[in-house]
Amino acid sequence: MAIETLAPVQPTTEFPNADGPHPGDVIVTSNLWKTYVMGDQQVNALRGVNLRIKHGEYVAIMGPSGSGKSTLMNLIGCLDSPSKGSYWLNGHDVSKLNDDELARIRNKEIGFVFQTFNLLARATSLHNVELPLIYNGTPAAERTARARAVLESVNLGSRMMHKPNELSGGQRQRVAIARALVNSPSIILADEPTGNLDSKTSVEIMGLFDTLHAKGNTIVVVTHEPDIAEYAHRVITIRDGSVASDQPSSRITGQKLSH
Ligand SMILES: Nc1ncnc2c1ncn2[C@@H]1O[C@H](COP(=O)(O)OP(=O)(O)OP(=O)(O)O)[C@@H](O)[C@H]1O
Ligand SMILES: [Mg+2]
Repeated sequence: MAIETLAPVQPTTEFPNADGPHPGDVIVTSNLWKTYVMGDQQVNALRGVNLRIKHGEYVAIMGPSGSGKSTLMNLIGCLDSPSKGSYWLNGHDVSKLNDDELARIRNKEIGFVFQTFNLLARATSLHNVELPLIYNGTPAAERTARARAVLESVNLGSRMMHKPNELSGGQRQRVAIARALVNSPSIILADEPTGNLDSKTSVEIMGLFDTLHAKGNTIVVVTHEPDIAEYAHRVITIRDGSVASDQPSSRITGQKLSH
């Protein structure tokens, strides 16, 4: 990918809201806040995050534990709603969508990979991957065919009938990735996808993300590990709920990250 794709897009008269989406933007947040209330205590997990991610970008989000990375990913993935501010997904103001529209856009556009895999323990790989298709009413035969195809694409063709506890950590993560991909989303959000994996398996999983990116998907990966962030083309650092830095990765600049 060329560096030009990271240049800011100039607002046009067709897109009068300068804070809102511009052509090519897929994820745009403006002054996004998330405040968790627990009894009489308030935690400002996000304090005015402004982000602009273009279609086809590969972004890593880094930052210390508790800085708000998962909170941000949950908002981007429409799994939670902000306390304040705006979020546009593929040009749609998410706060203006009703529940059905939100479920539809989330199902169609987003594949979410969780750190802890979130697989059903008693279900086979095949069934785990079929689940999102069951939720959106895909007919059984098509469901199975699609789940098989995507499991094969992550090299798990021989592990379709295994349950999570009969798989290695890397294989479990690949099932979770297959599940995120089964609806052919254009955006893949992964929260610490290699957090529980050894370094060799991590390289394998990141290879998979490279392939998805090369196919034109937008990828956002949260990671603690600078080596993993280097796979991305752009690295955003979050500190205390705000964006502390936003820079091209060494894959683009040829230099190691400064943090
Ligand atoms: N459901 C919740 N209720 C109350 N506070 C929360 C909740 N979820 C997160 N927090 C708080 O919000 C802050 C940000 O949490 P978050 O999970 O986003 O951090 P993180 O950057 O993902 O950290 P880690 O790297 O450890 O996963 C933390 O201080 C956390 O304690
Ligand atoms: Mg987290």
